[in-house]
Amino acid sequence: MCGIVGYIGEKQAPAILLNGLKKLEYRGYDSAGIAVFDGNKINVKKYKGRIQVLEDKLQVSPLQGVAGVGHTRWATHGAPSDENSHPHTNADSSICVVHNGIIENYISIKNELINKGYKFNSQTDTEVIVHLIDDCYKGDIFDAVLEATKRLKGAYALVVLNTFEPDKLIAVRKDSPLVIGLGQNENFIASDIPALLEYTKKVYLLDNDTYAVVTKDSVMLTDSEKNPITKEPFEVTWSIDDANKGGYEHFMLKEIYEQPTAVINTLRGRLNTDGINLDDFKLTKEQYDKIKKIYIVACGTAYYAGCVGKALIEKYTRKPVETAIASEFRYADPIVDENTLFIAVSQSGETADTLASMRLAKNKKARVLAITNVVGSSVAREADDIIYTLAGPEIAVASTKAYSTQVICMYLLTLKFADLAGLGATKEIKNLTEACKNIHIDAEKALDKADNIKKLAGLFKDASNAFFIGRGIDFCLAQEGSLKMKEISYIHVEAYQAGELKHGPIALLEEGTIIVALCTQRGELFEKTLSNIKEAKARGAKVIAIAQQDDKKQVEECCDYAIYINNCENSASVIPSVILLQMLAYYVACQRGCDVDKPRNLAKSVTVE
Ligand code: F6R
Repeated sequence: MCGIVGYIGEKQAPAILLNGLKKLEYRGYDSAGIAVFDGNKINVKKYKGRIQVLEDKLQVSPLQGVAGVGHTRWATHGAPSDENSHPHTNADSSICVVHNGIIENYISIKNELINKGYKFNSQTDTEVIVHLIDDCYKGDIFDAVLEATKRLKGAYALVVLNTFEPDKLIAVRKDSPLVIGLGQNENFIASDIPALLEYTKKVYLLDNDTYAVVTKDSVMLTDSEKNPITKEPFEVTWSIDDANKGGYEHFMLKEIYEQPTAVINTLRGRLNTDGINLDDFKLTKEQYDKIKKIYIVACGTAYYAGCVGKALIEKYTRKPVETAIASEFRYADPIVDENTLFIAVSQSGETADTLASMRLAKNKKARVLAITNVVGSSVAREADDIIYTLAGPEIAVASTKAYSTQVICMYLLTLKFADLAGLGATKEIKNLTEACKNIHIDAEKALDKADNIKKLAGLFKDASNAFFIGRGIDFCLAQEGSLKMKEISYIHVEAYQAGELKHGPIALLEEGTIIVALCTQRGELFEKTLSNIKEAKARGAKVIAIAQQDDKKQVEECCDYAIYINNCENSASVIPSVILLQMLAYYVACQRGCDVDKPRNLAKSVTVE
């Protein structure tokens, strides 16, 4: 949701800014720009389109300078255009701002500034910030930024470059992420760590409402009253390779293939012979017994991982769990109290609705557990307890390894709760524990099916709609599989509970409509899903089944195509099955010529409502 970068040092800033922006392109890619101080004045280049457009223009007419800021945009206020692109400057280009977030009161500030004679060149909310700083400037740029930001309502991460004190970048973080990278005779600012990995592993993860004055050899942090803040730098463990494609055609494919490792990393040290060890979630038996309800709240893919969590926790522990989409939860006046455990699931840890839901639950005295992939993210900092998904950086907009590791955390939580409920020694829990130990092997085996899936992907080449169906956990999988297909291949896919088709949507089936049927749950549900498949086939549907290896005979009797996962515990089918679904979406999107890593209209890390 917009990526911002800043550089100040001794090297040429443009290349570093451009490189940083490329690492942040997943946050938005409808326009990009940089501004660099050349020793006299600030020069800006900004264009509608991908970062490549900016790079091409810079090749033709390069910028020079050792201090600058950059931005890659996901439009909120004003369509993608050169004028609406960042950086934005004041009238004489002495002040320049890049911004991620939304200024809620920008219209009233804009009107006030227009009355004072300020001229606006864009439709953005950001432009008010730069004119407001100009209006507040009385000889000290930091003071001007402090005063201006006190007037702003909303969420923002800002970096300000100026000609009065060009040896300083001013950065502000309020409800939008910002990190500062510490170098030798140079310092960096970015929305996210991948932009910095090539230059430094030492970073400050800024807390909310923090201001930073960054020069080439110092970083001063304060609060909004200029009280100094002392902070220990955080040592990043991700490598540069984690943020590169490493030979894969797309980040999404690389991240699909990283899942066996991500699963192992997320389980390591937590699933032990002597029980479950979740360092940052110490729940006593007494506290567990007091929990009357668990809420799992998230958005998109993270929500679907939460749905798996509900199925698992309720099945194995009988503790009631409700799932909710965060944008609904926060306005639904939910029933939450001190006996509620609220679980926020968020890869980025910055999703605005998830964060707001979490704050609401905290206000209502719930205990809040965060499941997130980003150390130091807002969700991680504000939760009472954390379980990190150790997926490594996820760059592709379509989430893959984050989902798998979120599901792994759901297994871990289920086992922990079962233990606290005194169920640890039961056969079901022992089987689930064993199954978890083998999940990475099942994941590897699923990856071996790439060639089969490539062939099946051809079936979707000209499809304009399809259905994904399943029951129980298979329905959770159908939801995630259909989201993946929708977002990267632009095919309208509906996920339906297999038994619900006949209550309406079956009317949409015609000769050749594709149905992906998840039937990985052996036993009663398997038989029921097969019946639903037969109903659909009788109306002309073409069915692709995903099932366990041993069910081959029955599946082949009634489906047109099938892909199999290793035989496993029903509850452990999620990871290998989702890998098949992710690969299906990936190859369909490739065959339809879609831009897999940058699907239209989307961006990663949705920091606006
Ligand atoms: C889909 C996808 C999104 C995110 C959702 C939540 O592939 O990536 O649906 O899952 O925007 O994001 P986080 O997990 O960062 O809160």
